[in-house]
Parts: sequence; structure tokens; C-alpha cells
Amino acid sequence: MGIIDEIKERLDIVEFIGQYVPLKKAGRNYQALCPFHTERTPSFIVFPDRQNWHCFGACGTGGDIFSFVMRRENMDFSEAVRYLAQRAGIALLPRSEEEAAASRAKKLLLEINEEAAAYFHRLLLESADGERARRYLARRGIEKETIARFQLGYALDDWHALERHLTSKGYHVPDIVAAGLLAEQEDGGQHDRFRGRLMFSIRNMQGHVVGFGGRVLDEGLPKYLNSPQTPLFDKSSVLYGIDLAREAIRSEGLAIIVEGYMDVLMAHQHGLKNVVASLGTALTEGQLKTLKRLTKKLALALDSDAAGDRGTLRGLETARQVMDRQVVPVPTWKGYITYETQLDAEIKIITLPPGKDPDEIIRDSPEAWAGLVKEALPVVEYYFRALTADLDLQSPKGKAEAVSRLRPIIAEIGSSAERAHYMQELARLVKMSERALEMEIKKQAPARPTPEAKKSGQFSGFPGLSLSVERYLLFLLMHDPALFKTVNEVLARVQLKPLESEDFGQPEHRQILAMLLDKKEHGEPFQIEELDLSAEPLWGNLYQEWREFLGHIASLPETDLALAAGRCALQLRKLRLEQRLVELQYLNEDAQRDNDSEAMKRWGELVLQCSHEEGRLDEALSKVTVLGYKYKEESPLL
Ligand code: GTP
Ligand code: MN
Repeated sequence: MGIIDEIKERLDIVEFIGQYVPLKKAGRNYQALCPFHTERTPSFIVFPDRQNWHCFGACGTGGDIFSFVMRRENMDFSEAVRYLAQRAGIALLPRSEEEAAASRAKKLLLEINEEAAAYFHRLLLESADGERARRYLARRGIEKETIARFQLGYALDDWHALERHLTSKGYHVPDIVAAGLLAEQEDGGQHDRFRGRLMFSIRNMQGHVVGFGGRVLDEGLPKYLNSPQTPLFDKSSVLYGIDLAREAIRSEGLAIIVEGYMDVLMAHQHGLKNVVASLGTALTEGQLKTLKRLTKKLALALDSDAAGDRGTLRGLETARQVMDRQVVPVPTWKGYITYETQLDAEIKIITLPPGKDPDEIIRDSPEAWAGLVKEALPVVEYYFRALTADLDLQSPKGKAEAVSRLRPIIAEIGSSAERAHYMQELARLVKMSERALEMEIKKQAPARPTPEAKKSGQFSGFPGLSLSVERYLLFLLMHDPALFKTVNEVLARVQLKPLESEDFGQPEHRQILAMLLDKKEHGEPFQIEELDLSAEPLWGNLYQEWREFLGHIASLPETDLALAAGRCALQLRKLRLEQRLVELQYLNEDAQRDNDSEAMKRWGELVLQCSHEEGRLDEALSKVTVLGYKYKEESPLL
């Protein structure tokens, strides 16, 4: 039995999901308000018999225990497997010795950090020396609950206090050095890195302490000292407050990014919980990737000095690039979603008044802050202002300069509608004809990479591969991403939405499909090597089957591949509908038994919709067979 099945056998989906959402028994199934969208009538159903879940409301998504964890905890497939394996008390299969050692080492560093955070926190609350930090925080208006929630701390003004504490707990000096808490001296000795400072523990999304920041309590320098780079702490990807902000970011659909620790504390203290800090750096790609898992809307608070600053603009460009091309689920009609390329991830800029931090603004007047957030400008508009602030737009020279500065920015915009809009804006700004501008911009647009030339062969018919339909389709798409188009055309012909990860039952297939779609968006080829190799045991025989698959299709003509892909997609969609219909039938029976006419009506409507769709699918499937001039009926797969 594979690890996946073993986990499924040991963990009960009802019990497990019940830890996240209050489930109510309804007939033989369980109901709840969907944890993935806001709703009033519960559409989220857990089916104990099938050990799966489905949201019949706006998100129209579903899956097994793995898909639930992946969505809910923002994990990828291998992370979810590790997590659930741990919950199920299953030791993960052979990892390399090296990896196992690295993971043990990380665990130790985490433990040391957690212990240090608790120690600093106690010192802040209880030590005599900590009085100066307590007074400082009081002066800055930080309340007790905030101190506790963020586990703020104080490091004694002593060269060896933390070292003594941690060694007394049994930790070894080299490990404490590795955690970044002790600094090594030239003479071979070591001392506490943080002394006489107010301590901030920096946590990852899961709430584990990965590093620290320490602020002086006077005018000393450096004002802030952060942990050095360690296996746990990567300054470029941490976001201060993300553990406490993630729920609010998700539920409000907006992340506000400020610069400093103090800004985050003050925001959260005022109930503004969707606020995180980038810790003084420009937003990095790592940070954006983290945020992107939670929301597509970001608002960056920038102080007025940063406006027009080249570094800021570069940061914003990265932001647009990282955020712009994501594939997001979009609700279409009742109970269904489709994946669309989100071209206009919203990134807005909150411009701060000169010399003011969010911290001060919020403390003085939460209303003023709310006003600034409301007036935030979309990035491009912000660029327009920032980049032309120093130009005389009446003079020909100023106009030319404005065009040359803004041109590359407009060319970068992913959405054509948005691009057209800003072209008009620019034309208006510099009083030029749109056509003249357009020509210029086209010249600058980067060429898209051309898809790889396709192979052709002579052999017709499918050899006896024993792959599941899911895997076969996935492999076809990995082999030739152009088949996405074929598949979606086939689906569109019968008015069905494009292929999406939900069409796949196995969570690892969903993940690979999501990766494929992402790559396709970027015009990059997908390499199987990109799968988390360290998790190879989790992917089971995927690698081996992939190599077999490659061998088999090497000599097949393209038409066969296209045909197979279309047919597989229809079959998968049909399978999915059949499952949906069985679920709906259960729900219907329960509703009838309970005499719940409203529920009966609701499920009945969905049954009808699904049946119509199934009819269209059956028709399409029969046509594809007829069309299959080169398709061999005896193929074991199709
Ligand atoms: P206060 O000055 O106490 O209000 O703190 P702040 O958090 O508002 O700091 P500030 O606005 O000066 O800087 C924003 C962020 O940049 C800080 O929270 C730190 O993360 C970072 N930062 C500022 N100064 C330093 C420094 O000297 N060294 C390091 N490593 N980071 C700094
Ligand atoms: Mn400040």
C-alpha cells in the first residue's frame, strides 16, 4: 500500500475537516459553511462514505483529504503529504540520509528559536532590567495584549545571558551559533548577538519562529539588528506578522504591506489584521509568492520619499510580474468554476504623508489611515504620477521624456484592456495621437518565446500502456503543452469549461496540472525534474511511468496524440460528473427523508444541470470515436 492510501486509511476525513470547520450531520453526510468562500447557506459537504468533500456553492471545488489540506494550509502536494503523514503517525519512506540530517538540524534550530523567544518574552514581562523596554513600549502605545500576541521580548544587556540560558536547557553552543543567536568572535569565543534590545520574533506562515529582529531602546546604532541568514531565516522571504495576518488576508482578500515592525504592531492593535511588514526591504519575489497564495490584492504603503525612487519602481515591476500571471479560479455559473489567467492582479500603492509611518498615522487617527488605504492608487497610475512629477509636461522635451519613461511600463501590462486604457491616459498626458504612441510601444514589446517544434512520426495506434486516464492525459500535456489548446477546443465544442486541476482526482496530478498551466502562461517548457525531487517517494512510480510513456509515444503521429488527449479529457470530465451525480443523489435522498423541500429543490436543480452536461459529454465522446480515423479501438487505454 502506498503512503497516500495508508494516510487515507488512517485519517478520517470527517474527523479531520471537523477540526477546521464545525460540521453538522445531515443525513449520512456532513454540512458546513464553506471555509473557502463566504456564504450563508452551507454548501460544503463532507462525504464519509467516499472520504471526500465538495463545495456545491460558489467555489464548486472538491477533493480528498489532501486537496483539503493543500487549499486550507496553502501547501503543495508534498508538503501536504508530509503534514498528513505526521498526523497519521506514519514515518515517511526512505529519504536520503543527508536530507534526514538537514531536517533534524532545522528542527533543532526551530526549537532553539522557540526557547529563545519564550525567554526574551519572560524577560520583557518580568525582569528588572526589562523595565526600560516596558516603559519604551508604553511610550509607543503598545498594549499588553499586543505584547503577548506578538510574543515581544527583551534581550538583557549582557554578553552571555542567552547563551547561559540555552546551554542550561541542554543546547550546544555550535547549534545556538547556527541559529544565529550567538555571534562568533575572532578569538574563537562567542557572545549573545542581541543585547539590551527590544526583541521581535519573526515567524513563518505556520507560526514557527524562524528569526529575530532587535531594536535599540535609545538612539544607538544600528537601530535594528536582524538574525543573520540561517537555514531557517531567509530575510528576503519573511514577512513580519504573516502568521497572525494570514486568516484576515484571506478573508478580506487584501494584504497591506508596510515597512516596519512597529507599523504591524500598531495596525493589529487597532484590529487591522491584514497587515504585514516587508522589514525594510523592497518587496521581494519570495515575499510576493507567499502573499500570492493568500490573495491577489495587495496594497503597499510607501513613504513619500520612496515615490519615484528607482529601487521602489523596480520592486513594483517585480511585483507586477510575479502577481500578474497567476491562474485563478473564477466562478462561472452556479457551482462551477473555471481557471483564468488573472491579468490584473491588483497592486495598489498607499502613499504616506511626508515623514509619517503607518504606526503614527494609525495611532493618531485610524480614520485617516482608512482614508489613505481607500485612496490607494493602482500601480500604473502611481507610476504615472511618480515618474512625471519632475517633468514639465507642457514642453516638447518633457513630453518626450514622459513617453520614454512610461512606455516600458505600459508595455509590461499583461491585460490588453488595461494596456489600452493606459495608452489613452498617456496620450492624454502628453497630448500625442494614440496611434503614434502604440507604434512606439509595439517596438519595445518583448517577443514571446516560440513553442518548440513538434515531432512527427509514422507509427499509428497505441501500444499497451497501462496508465490511468488521468496520468496519460497529464503526460500528454507535459509532453506537448500545445495539446491544452486541443483539449480545450474539444471541451468548448460541447460548451464545457476548459481543463482544470479539479478534473483530476489524484492530488499529485492536480498539482502537476497547476504547474503546467503556470508554465504555459510563461511560455516555458515543463521539466519533470522540477517536481520536488526530495519528495520522490511521494510521487510513487510517476518518474518510471513517465520514462515508459516517452518511449512509447516517441514514434506516434501528432494526430493520435491530439485525439487521445481530447478523449481523455472528455472521459475525465464524465467521471467527475458521475461522481457529482452520486453525491447529489445522496443529498437528495436525505432531503427527501427530512422532507426539506428547499434542499430538494436545490439539489434537484444541480442534478438537472449535471445531467445535461453529461448528455453533452456522451455525445462528444461518441463523436471523438467516429472522428478517430487513426484511432485503434483495441487500445487498452481509450
Ligand atoms: P521605529 O523607528 O521604532 O518606528 O521602527 P520602524 O519599524 O518604524 O522602523 P523604520 O520605519 O525606521 O524602518 C522600517 C523597517 O526597516 C524596520 O522595521 C526594520 O525592519 C528595517 N530597518 C530599519 N532600520 C534598520 C537597521 O538599522 N538595520 C536593519 N537590519 N533593518 C532596519
Ligand atoms: Mn516607525
